[in-house]
Parts: sequence; structure tokens; C-alpha cells
Amino acid sequence: MTKLIAGFSKFSKQQKIDWLAENFFQEKEKGIEVLKKYWNADEKLQSLHDEFIENTISNFYVPYAIAPNFIINGKTYTIPMSIEESSVVAAASLVAKFWSSRGGFKAKVLSTTKVGHVHFMYAGDKEELQRTFKQIKPKLFEETAAITENMRKRGGGILDIELIDKTSDLKDYYQLYVTFETKDSMGANFINSCLEKMANTIKNDEIQIVMSILSNYVPECLVRAEVSCKIEDFFDENPRFYAQKFVQAVQIAEVEPYRAVTHNKGIMNGIDAVVLATGNDFRAVAAGIHAYAARDGQYRSLTHAKIEGDEFRFWIEIPLALGTVGGLTKLHPLAKLSLEMLHQPSAEELMQIVAVAGLAQNFAAIKALTTTGIQEGHMKMHLNNILNQLEANVHEKKILVDQFRGKTVSYNEVANALHKLRLA
Ligand code: MEV
Repeated sequence: MTKLIAGFSKFSKQQKIDWLAENFFQEKEKGIEVLKKYWNADEKLQSLHDEFIENTISNFYVPYAIAPNFIINGKTYTIPMSIEESSVVAAASLVAKFWSSRGGFKAKVLSTTKVGHVHFMYAGDKEELQRTFKQIKPKLFEETAAITENMRKRGGGILDIELIDKTSDLKDYYQLYVTFETKDSMGANFINSCLEKMANTIKNDEIQIVMSILSNYVPECLVRAEVSCKIEDFFDENPRFYAQKFVQAVQIAEVEPYRAVTHNKGIMNGIDAVVLATGNDFRAVAAGIHAYAARDGQYRSLTHAKIEGDEFRFWIEIPLALGTVGGLTKLHPLAKLSLEMLHQPSAEELMQIVAVAGLAQNFAAIKALTTTGIQEGHMKMHLNNILNQLEANVHEKKILVDQFRGKTVSYNEVANALHKLRLA
């Protein structure tokens, strides 16, 4: 067993790598070489990345791709996506093209309110607490005024502060429930700073602060995206049959949690990829979206579809707390470029783009699942990954791609075929 190590964060990068190689790598030099291969030649850029987190020893690449031809509210977008899963960007591009000739995507932000809490314990008289809160409420705004000044200038700030009695859920538990408008910033630092200041103002011998923190559940920060077309434009062959099958597949995800999780996972393929590429917090987004999917007590589909007369409609409604200023958005050079590619969107515009990316991904998955099955599209990319794993050269790749066209591929079959090809 490796010995515990003290003061590790104070080690130089080289010392950290040496310690790692010494204790964990079978082939020390080879391991170190791999780590260093991923260092950026531009030392300034590398040190920017080093400083994002502690104990950085290298960079972990995830492909950065683009999906062109998205029409959203009549405007054309090329959407940046950062993801390792092979079929996601190809699917996004196909769906973008498909809907570009059917009126494109329509998207709308429904609300933009974010939430944070000061969670505290109080065992005293309830009415006394209500009275104290009423008296102190203006002070909570005053004492956070220096923190909120810039945000207020941008049209945001603290919207309201409420005292919530949670003692029926947990003995002595109360909270300040604070709502915020954070405009183009995701607002995590802003919200947490305000909450900590408020906690400081209300604490006394009787009020014991437990914690002050924003919530990543933002059901009042909602966006909706949709597509629609005439049934006859849905498919060339048998469009009503396939449109109905599509709607049934979505309805299954509305009532069956096992399917809903996979259905929503496919949606998150699109959402996370854009959230990551724009330097936003994909864990926060995912946590909030999944909670929203279970808001009535059962985990359900985030998308919905219906046929109304001769029209097919398909839409998504999700909570999204995103920023286009602050955080990594302007600090990470690729995130900055992503926002430039998206015409420097406001946070609201980015919410619409991200919702569209999720809807598009779900459309691709359901369309494939209810027609050819999912494997056909996946196989091409899967084959390519296997060939790369087997270190096939360009010539070998070409021959084997032809050989496996339209077939289900497995690692062993491809390895055998490559072996045979090399012996021939
Ligand atoms: C794979 O990453 C995503 C899908 O499983 C989504 C779905 O089943 O809807 C294809």
C-alpha cells in the first residue's frame, strides 16, 4: 500500500509526477512521457490550465467539434460541442440539417430566477422569529448592497428574501429562501457571497447557521425549445406510421422511469457537450435537469411529442443556469472561442441553444430507435474507435471500413480481420 503523503500540493509539478511514477507506474519513463505529451507547447497556456485546479500534472483531452446548420428562431448557428462519445456530433449535424428545411427550431426562455438558501436552526418562539425577520429584511438588502451593486447596474440582483419554516420536515430547521436575477452570469459566486453576508447578519445566540449555498435546482430558470412539421414532411415513406411510433417512444419515456433515464441520458449528450464547450458547469446543469425530470415524484422524459391533426410537434422544457460572462467562459481560450462562434450570446440565448442541442440529440436517438435501430449509426464510429485502438493505418482502415459496411462489429471480429489483412 502507498504511504499517505503530507504537503503534496506544495510539491512542484515535476515532484508530483516523479512521486506518481515512483509509486504507481509499471514503466516509469513511459508513464511520464505520456503525461508530458499532453502538455501544451505554449507555456503560458499550459500554466493557465495548470492553475484551473490543484495538483495538475497534464491535460485530459476531450474532442472539441462543431455541428453546423442549426436554425434557431430564424438565426443560423454553428454549435460547439465537447464530448468523447462517437456518434453525438454526427447526429446533431444530421438533425440540424433535417430541421433546417422544416422551419428550424423555435426556442423561448420562460423564466430566469435562481435560488439560494441560508439554512439555519432555531429552537425559540416562531412568532418572535417572524417579527425579527420582518425588522431585519431591509438590513439584509442594505448589507449586501456593495456585493450587488454591479449586478444591479446590469439589471439583476436580489429579487426577494423569504423566511421559510421547515420545522415540520426537520426539528428547528428554518431557511432564508432568496431569489436572484443574475443576468448573463451563472451567478454562483455572486449568490453565495450574498448568502454568506446575510447569514452573518442574522446569526445570533439563538440562530445557528448551518450553511449558506445556492441551489442547483432552478425550476424557475426555464427554457423551452421545439420543432414541428406537417406529418407528410416527417418521412418520405409512411410518415404517419413513423410519426406515431416516434410519439409512442416519447410517451413510454414519460411513464417508464427505466426508459426515461436512458432517454434523458441521450438528451444530456447534447446538453453537456455544449455546456462544457462554453465553459459552463455541466455537473450543476445535469443535477438540476435530473431533479426537474423527477419533480412530480417520478423520473420522466424531459421531451414531449404529439400529433395534432396533420402536424407533428416535439419539444423540451428544462431548467438551465448558464453564464456567458464570468467563470471559465472568458478564461478558457476555447470556451471564449465557442461564445464567439455563437455570436457572443446572452445567457438567455445560450439557454435556448443548449436546449435545442438536447432536443436535437433526442430527436436523432428516437428517430433511429423507431426505424433502423441505434446500432446502424453507432457502428461506423465504433469501428473507427476499434481500428484506432488496434493502431490500424490509413490503408488498413479504408479496407476494413469497406469490409464491415452495414454489418454489426465487435472488437474480436475487427481484430481478426485486421490480423488476416496483415498476413495477406
Ligand atoms: C446513447 O448515448 C444515448 C441513447 O441510448 C439515447 C436513447 O436511447 O434515447 C441512444
